[in-house]
Amino acid sequence: MSNNLPSIPPFNYQPTTYIGLSAQQVIDLRKQYINPVVATYYQQPIMIVEGSMQYVFDETGKRYLDAFAGIATVNVGHCHPHVVQAIQEQSAKLQHVTTLYLHPTIAEYSQMLVDKMPDDLSMVYLVNSGSEANDLAMLMARVYTENFDLIALRNGYHGMSGNSMGLTAQSTWKYSTPHHFGIHHAINAALPY
Ligand SMILES: Cc1ncc(COP(=O)(O)O)c(C=O)c1O
Repeated sequence: MSNNLPSIPPFNYQPTTYIGLSAQQVIDLRKQYINPVVATYYQQPIMIVEGSMQYVFDETGKRYLDAFAGIATVNVGHCHPHVVQAIQEQSAKLQHVTTLYLHPTIAEYSQMLVDKMPDDLSMVYLVNSGSEANDLAMLMARVYTENFDLIALRNGYHGMSGNSMGLTAQSTWKYSTPHHFGIHHAINAALPY
């Protein structure tokens, strides 16, 4: 193997000195208290304790490029100053209110979201996860059409909730319980198999 591996570019950020539990202590606590389905990668999983934009840091201060940050919560990087400021301001003012009362942000945010969508996507229903969104889409389609059957494509992943696991067509993400009533899996005509 070549020793001329590319090095990570310089980055002007000093992580704080970590003084918490060791990685081994965290592993031991996880084993004792967390369901094993919450798995880790690698025999010695890295422990990430801090982040700044595209980088994360382990407990020794070692910096990694975060190639896992594909989820929406970090789609502008870790601890982006604008996001941190907005979270801090809102946390200090009001942390939760039911949608049964009015609050300006959900209305303004929904309008901003619709403005970015194609014209016929003009209504918002905010949920917490992809599985929940798909559950809701299934329910809405069934209630609206008064039909029950759904077609999903083979090899697709749609979530692990009771209903969305029925849509999912990857054996690794399905349990052997009855969960796909009315769902028919079809070959994806766009793929060469
Ligand atoms: C295409 C797709 N649909 C649905 C989901 C389920 O989303 P969630 O894990 O937020 O429930 C995922 C999650 O990886 C996904 O990739």
